[in-house]
Amino acid sequence: MAEQKRKRILSGIQPTGTFTLGNYIGAVRNWAKLQDDFECLYMLADLHALTVRQVPAELRRHTREAAAMLLAAGIDPSQSLVFVQSQVPAHTQLGWVITCNSQFGELSRMTQFKDKSAKHPDNINGGLRSYPRLLAADILVYLAELVPVGQDQTQHLELARNVAQRFNNAYSPTFTLPEGYITKEGAKIMSLAEPTRKMSKSDTNQNSYILMTDDTDTILRKFKRAVTDSDGVVRYDPAAKPGVSNLMCIYNVFTGKAMDEIEREFDGVGYGDFKLAVGQAVADALAPIQGEYARILADTAYVDGVLRQGAEGASRLANRMVEKVYRKIGLLQL
Ligand code: TRP
Repeated sequence: MAEQKRKRILSGIQPTGTFTLGNYIGAVRNWAKLQDDFECLYMLADLHALTVRQVPAELRRHTREAAAMLLAAGIDPSQSLVFVQSQVPAHTQLGWVITCNSQFGELSRMTQFKDKSAKHPDNINGGLRSYPRLLAADILVYLAELVPVGQDQTQHLELARNVAQRFNNAYSPTFTLPEGYITKEGAKIMSLAEPTRKMSKSDTNQNSYILMTDDTDTILRKFKRAVTDSDGVVRYDPAAKPGVSNLMCIYNVFTGKAMDEIEREFDGVGYGDFKLAVGQAVADALAPIQGEYARILADTAYVDGVLRQGAEGASRLANRMVEKVYRKIGLLQL
């Protein structure tokens, strides 16, 4: 391809625990694929994780593990910047400017704020409400054009666009308005226990999710228990048959088979065999990633080196932006 400027992508994921199959299918797997066509920045959003109380030693460990998993899943640090949010102070620096350019009301309307406050009624902290401002800063500080996010983040992205627009109007054109980059099929993997809810690593029921580190026996056992329905037909119908449809999505991701093909393959076959086939496909796909993960994680110096290099690269871009914004809004430069 001719030297054409590639669009810049930024995405983030919270390092609050081992990634689930849902994180992999919905985000990480796609991140690896985007590297060829875009200039990618991938961030471990540890500051966002602080909106929920974290155990310090675990947060630290999970952050390294998350980095190792991104690398194991094919994110290539010679192509993309992989970094930890707190290692790039420009995010919080721009975050304050964004805070002063966003309205209280627009933050209170965020559905995720309402959901999360309902879930943690004992810790409705300021960060929970301000979270979309920091997220806006994460994106705007790099002038990222595309942001691969799940459906649950589109409202936050909208806020980022609004704030960027407002700032551009109040001062002068500064920020690019970011667009969501929503991946189609299999983007949202549901809980195995309650298939109308998203698969989540913070779910209290361990059978509801597959962890990227689960061994084959565990994977097969969890799929065997996956909630389906009572009509015994493998057919894709997310509204009427959420459990079966979710399993079909997962199977589709790892086998590449279309839904009608999957329906034919399991025509007249019981759910037991179907679930086993899905579980086996997942286990086979995860095995090589798990091997890589163990190898990379054992090399702490390597992981830290990647993160250091990522933070340096990201800081170079972000610091320039903060300086520009500070100048525009009248902060004294010496
Ligand atoms: N909020 C995202 C999550 O909870 C992570 C995130 C933080 C993010 N900053 C971002 C995603 C910027 C996209 C762009 O998973």
